[in-house]
Amino acid sequence: MATEQRPDQLSPWQAQAMAVPEAFDLFLGGGRGGGKTFTLAAIFLRHCEQHGDEARCLVVRKSFPGLQDLEAEFRSYFTKVYGDKLRFDGQKHRFTLPNGATVQLDQLERENDFAKYQGKSFSHIAVDEAGQYASPALTDRLRSSLRAPAGVPTRFILIANPGGVGHAWLVRRYALKEPWKPYIDEATGFDFVSIASTYRDNEFIDRDRYAKNLMASCATDPELGRAWLEGDWSVLRGAYFSSVIDEQRVRVEPWPELPLPDQWDTDRWKIYLAHDFGSAAPSVTYLCAQSPGAEGPDGYFYPKGSVVLVDEESTTSPDDLNAGLGLTVPDQADRIISMCKQWRASPRGVADDAIFNNNGSQSGTIGDEFRKAGVSFTKAHKGSRLAGWQIMRRMLADAGTPDRPGLYVSRNCQVWWQTVPALPRDPRKPEDVDSTAADHAADACRYALTGYQPLPHVEFAFNN
Ligand SMILES: Nc1ncnc2c1ncn2[C@@H]1O[C@H](COP(=O)(O)OP(=O)(O)OP(=O)(O)O)[C@@H](O)[C@H]1O
Ligand SMILES: [Mg+2]
Repeated sequence: MATEQRPDQLSPWQAQAMAVPEAFDLFLGGGRGGGKTFTLAAIFLRHCEQHGDEARCLVVRKSFPGLQDLEAEFRSYFTKVYGDKLRFDGQKHRFTLPNGATVQLDQLERENDFAKYQGKSFSHIAVDEAGQYASPALTDRLRSSLRAPAGVPTRFILIANPGGVGHAWLVRRYALKEPWKPYIDEATGFDFVSIASTYRDNEFIDRDRYAKNLMASCATDPELGRAWLEGDWSVLRGAYFSSVIDEQRVRVEPWPELPLPDQWDTDRWKIYLAHDFGSAAPSVTYLCAQSPGAEGPDGYFYPKGSVVLVDEESTTSPDDLNAGLGLTVPDQADRIISMCKQWRASPRGVADDAIFNNNGSQSGTIGDEFRKAGVSFTKAHKGSRLAGWQIMRRMLADAGTPDRPGLYVSRNCQVWWQTVPALPRDPRKPEDVDSTAADHAADACRYALTGYQPLPHVEFAFNN
């Protein structure tokens, strides 16, 4: 009796989502409240009914409260189908269906949490609220547990809303793909389909009321409210800096050379480095030029005090903007020196204060190691993050004006262009950048603006 009863009708969008062939992994995106998590329960149910005790489903969320909400939603869903024949192990967060199929819910927050999946296999794995993961590293690793006996299809499902700390990698991989059209996810090599819904697709809620509540929940951040309402991943492109970054004003073509230092000029261009350090995380270094109020080598006039990010050296992993290449300090220094050589600039500048902390290592601080390797950094004395972001916003907004110092960024600075315009805000502190996002380019840029009393540029002679 109970087993034949379907828990609820599906919305047309949900029915269409269910019809995407199982051979495709799924990205369910869009706005809040579109019925994505409910669709996941329905996909799991179908898989479980088809494959009995060979069906093993896993769904993870990042936070424990999130996991509890999910548990309540799934419990109500599966109870409607199986009534008291549904078994639930509260300690293991695992449902066992009458035919032996299992649905495991779990919290996956950090690398160490993987130990519990060691040697386990799941036929369907889903990540709910994938936007809460700052990088795809953890969720990608889940795939190592995705395997099933012959004849049982395996499937990976990602669910996310715009605006989380994972906004940038989700956009890069999945969120802006043409909906319903299969593609190969370049990062993992798997066949994917991306689809999206908004609250309007969900006839099971009071939609007008839901929309009002959604906007009210984002009273201090109407841009985020709109992204959640419309499911538009591009609204929040550049969430934090979106209102001030306009490529036409900020982006400059690569300079042919640095401004030639004229020894009679007292007011010269100042050339310096600005560096944000990372090893597991990326390092980003800018070659910066501060204008005396003069024409640059590209023939454009830069008002006095303007800063141009002329070139970039970064150890960002090509697939994960939040992961570094794990290079040692001497290797990083070599790369920075070779950028400086190319421009005949002195390898000196400012860096994150933290690299001057003594960590008890024999080789001294990271700052000392850089100095030994030929790159001389001083503390950026960066002050408060918020004050730094305010300066950066103001200079971005003033780029292109004839009389106020602006911030200009060369097309050479690829990591800057890939990350800064897309940086999300901290959901708990909307006036700040989310520090778990890929903010390394932004940090280095901030030090370039706040950290330096630059010395005049003299052309630098390298010995070798
Ligand atoms: N087919 C359905 N029948 C009954 N209720 C449904 C159905 N689909 C969704 N709902 C209800 O609508 C609400 C929103 O659905 P759901 O939580 O699945 O949306 P979501 O897209 O995951 O939202 P969020 O973006 O906030 O995570 C929930 O209360 C859910 O139970
Ligand atoms: Mg959901």
